[in-house]
Amino acid sequence: MIRAASIHLPMWGAGLAAAFRLAGTAIRDRAALAPLLGTAAGQREVFAVLRAFWPNLRVGRKLVTAYDNTGTAVVTRRSEVTEVLDREADFAVVYEPKMRAITAGENFFLGMQDGVDYQRDTSSMRLAARRDDVARIVQPFAAEEAAAIVAVARGTLDVPAALTRRVPARLVARYFGLPYDSEETLIDQATRMFWYLFVDLKGEESVSAPALAAAAAARDWIDACIAARKANPSAQDDVLGRCLALQAAGVPGMDDRGIRNNLIGLVIGLVPTLSKAATQALSQLLDRPDALAMAQVAARAGDDARLAEIVFEALRFDPVNPVIYRRAVRDTEIARGTWRSLRIPKGTMVLAANLSAMFDSLAMEKPEAFRPGRPWGDYMLWGYGMHACFGGWINRAVVPAMLKPVLAKQGLRRAEGEAGRIDGRTPFPANMTVLFDD
Ligand code: HEM
Repeated sequence: MIRAASIHLPMWGAGLAAAFRLAGTAIRDRAALAPLLGTAAGQREVFAVLRAFWPNLRVGRKLVTAYDNTGTAVVTRRSEVTEVLDREADFAVVYEPKMRAITAGENFFLGMQDGVDYQRDTSSMRLAARRDDVARIVQPFAAEEAAAIVAVARGTLDVPAALTRRVPARLVARYFGLPYDSEETLIDQATRMFWYLFVDLKGEESVSAPALAAAAAARDWIDACIAARKANPSAQDDVLGRCLALQAAGVPGMDDRGIRNNLIGLVIGLVPTLSKAATQALSQLLDRPDALAMAQVAARAGDDARLAEIVFEALRFDPVNPVIYRRAVRDTEIARGTWRSLRIPKGTMVLAANLSAMFDSLAMEKPEAFRPGRPWGDYMLWGYGMHACFGGWINRAVVPAMLKPVLAKQGLRRAEGEAGRIDGRTPFPANMTVLFDD
C-alpha cells in the first residue's frame, strides 16, 4: 500500500498542480486557454491532469470528422497507449481512403492492417532502404549538406526555411534517387500531402484540394523518375535503383505503380517530419539555457551520441505529433481488470497520447526533468508497435546531424521578437530565425 502510494503520489501532485495552473489561466484570461491548449506545453498540462485522475476517457462527441467514427476516446497512460497500439487487430489505422486518394488507386502500407500486402510491401521496402544505408549514405550526406548551408550563413539563419526543410529534400534526390526541378515545389507538395493525410482531422476542403493537386503532380514526377532511370540505367546506389532491381527479380508488388506508391509514401513521411522535429527540438533547447549549453558542448566536441541524446530529450517536450489515432474495429475494452478499464464501442476513434506517455511518472523516472540519456524505450517520438516509423533510424541520424553545425556556433540565440519563434501559420514550421557570432 505504502509503496503504491509513494509511486502514485508524485503523479497526483503533478496532476493537481497542473489543474490549478490551468484553472488560474482560465480565471485570469479565458481567451488564453484555447491557444495554450494548442501548444505542447498546454497539452502536457491537460495530460498531467488526465493521467492522474481520468486516464482513459470516452466522449460521445466526434472530435475527428475526417474519418467515419462513432465517438472519441483518449488514453493517456503509457500502459494504455501501448496497449492500443499493440492491439493492431482491434484498433486499426484509418488512413486508407486518403492514401488511395493520394495514389489515385492503391493503399500504402501505413494505411494497411497486418496481412499479406502489409508484410510484402514493408519487406520489399526494407530491402530497398536498408539500415546500413543510414551510416553509409544518409548521415554523411545530411551532415555535409547541413555544414555547407550553415557555413555560408552570415550570423543569421532561418532554420526551417534555409536548413531543415532543404536537407531532407536533398535526401529525396540523393538517397531515394528521385531528382526534381524545384526544391520549393517538392517541399510544398510533401508538406501538403502530409497535412491532408495525418494532421487534418476535420477533413477541410482548404487542406484536401491543394493536397490532391500536389499528389497528382507528385505521381507524375515519380513516374517520370522511374521511366528516366529505366531508359538510362545507372549504377547509383539508391532506393529507386534497388526497387528496380527487385522488380527485375520478379518480386511481387514491385511493378512501376507499386514502386511509385511506396516511394510517394516515403517522400511524404520524410520531408515535413524531419524538418518539424529538428526545428521544434532546437526551439526547446533555446528555451533552456543549461540544455542548450550541454548540446553546444557536445556539438563542438563532435560527440554525436551525446548530442543525439540531448536533441531527442528536447524533442520529447514537443514531439512532431502528440497523439496517434486508431479506430476500434469491434466492441472491446482496454485496461481490462483494472479500475481504469474502459469499454470502447466499435467505431470509436481512439487517441493514443504518445506525448502523455512520455511524461508518465508510473513508467519512467522524473519525466518533468530534462535528462538526456534516458533509456531509448522511454521515447515515443515516432509511433509505437507495428506501424512505428519506417524511418526511425534515419530520424535518429538526420535530426541531430542537421542541428549540429548550428549548435556549434558561438553566441547562438533567437532573433528578436516573433522572427525568433516558430511561425504558427501552418502545422509545419516555415520560419524560425536564429542569430550567432560569425
Ligand atoms: C522525425 C521524423 C519523423 C517522425 C516524427 C515520424 C513519425 C511517424 C509516426 C508517428 C508514425 C506512425 C504513424 C501511426 O502509427 O499512425 C510513422 C510511420 C511511418 N513513417 Fe515516419 N516519421 C518521421 C520520419 C520518417 C521518415 C524519414 C520516413 C521515410 C524514410 C518515414 C516514413 C514512415 C512510414 C513509411 C511509416 C509507416 C510505417 C508502417 O506502417 O509500418 N517517416 N512515422
